[in-house]
Amino acid sequence: LSLLVLISGGGSNLRALLEASSDAEYPARVIAVGSDTDAPGLAHAEEFEIPTFTVVPTSFASRDAWGAELLEQIERWSPDLVVCAGFMRILPPAVVSALTPRIINTHPALLPAFPGAHAVRDALAAGVDTTGVTVHVIDEGVDTGPVIVQRSVPVYPGDTEHELHERIKSVERELLVQAVFDIANGAVDLKEIAAR
Ligand code: GRF
Repeated sequence: LSLLVLISGGGSNLRALLEASSDAEYPARVIAVGSDTDAPGLAHAEEFEIPTFTVVPTSFASRDAWGAELLEQIERWSPDLVVCAGFMRILPPAVVSALTPRIINTHPALLPAFPGAHAVRDALAAGVDTTGVTVHVIDEGVDTGPVIVQRSVPVYPGDTEHELHERIKSVERELLVQAVFDIANGAVDLKEIAAR
């Protein structure tokens, strides 16, 4: 299964996929990495000698123009699956409809709880004692697509946002690597999930 991974930040989830795909037994390979900015995580792709591209929103007159360029860059690689791993942009509907259900996202909360860009901070502010990770198919909404897998993560008293997010990320990268494995070997059928 060929993967194209989109990132915006440090890329710890990307690194987990790069390390997994270095194992000949793992049925998926990262073929390219894209970003909306000069993300620090692109260094992981360079270390693994995987091609990267950057499509910066502010270089375009509109979100739709940015989306069209991003889609063109993605489709150049003809990936089997696009993985948004800490990609902090909302994809325009035209991009989603061209790719779904072969596009998934990882979110640091138990959706539908705490959608959006500040899920970890929001969970802390809500005072919950359990949050978690969701891997889901991206649909036209924001963090609303059908869930592939979720796993809970405990919140401890006095957790800072960083401490909680690191605890979440340690579960997230395992869940994402496993979800891609299951998609690659057919245990998870994205078309079936999207049709729910
Ligand atoms: C991940 O927790 C992702 O779910 C969230 O931002 C974080 C990105 O981390 N949107 P990294 O860039 O993979 O280290």
